[in-house]
Amino acid sequence: MERLQKVIADAGITSRRKAEDLILKGKVRVNGQVIKELGTKVSGNDVVEVNGAIIHSDVTKKYYLLNKPRGVISSAHDDKNRPTVIDYIDTDVRIYPVGRLDYDTTGLILLTNDGDLAHLLTHPANKIPKTYIAKIEGLLNKDDIDRLRNGIFIEGRKVLIENFKIKDKDFDHQTSLVELTIIEGRNHIVKKIFETLKHPVIRLSRIRLAFLEIGKLKSGEYRELSIKEVKKLYSLK
Ligand code: URA
Repeated sequence: MERLQKVIADAGITSRRKAEDLILKGKVRVNGQVIKELGTKVSGNDVVEVNGAIIHSDVTKKYYLLNKPRGVISSAHDDKNRPTVIDYIDTDVRIYPVGRLDYDTTGLILLTNDGDLAHLLTHPANKIPKTYIAKIEGLLNKDDIDRLRNGIFIEGRKVLIENFKIKDKDFDHQTSLVELTIIEGRNHIVKKIFETLKHPVIRLSRIRLAFLEIGKLKSGEYRELSIKEVKKLYSLK
């Protein structure tokens, strides 16, 4: 947390003295509210506006949303020199992935250097929903669907499936396309769910994390999160 006038001065807008004047004149907003107290402290996650323009109070924090391709490791380094998610992001800042996707899983993964946000998003208490599309072997019967609706035990712990939809059934090839939303992050959890049901996963992709969607990003493409999105993620705590 830093004093508002220091944050404004550090952003190169003006001197600290003049920043104080701007605050006293009501020209400064924090998270949309005019702030006139000089002692106010803000963090890098607060949105600071001066004369209606947003200033990046903490430029060192970076947030990227990548559409991870298949055959890419979700960690900062790999002993076997395989490509990692970091290789896809053009940045000088040391970032790391938030949680992980398997080597052969595609889709939405966040990368950041903001440890607080990474912790918030991966902490089970915050129950962040994640939505996957899985192509699985076979066609599901009523018993399978009941088990998915009631929650399945994996390694002695129930996985609560928030939402589940069959998107498509391929009778010729005996495969199904399903969408499911879960709120936990155990490793390989989706594959384990369908292994338990004897419908192994053929392909897996994450399409949503909380309110963030993969959208139109193609495999290997990424974008930065907006300040608004970062704030909204913080509000999920
Ligand atoms: N569940 C899996 O089985 N794999 C992933 O990559 C993510 C969730």
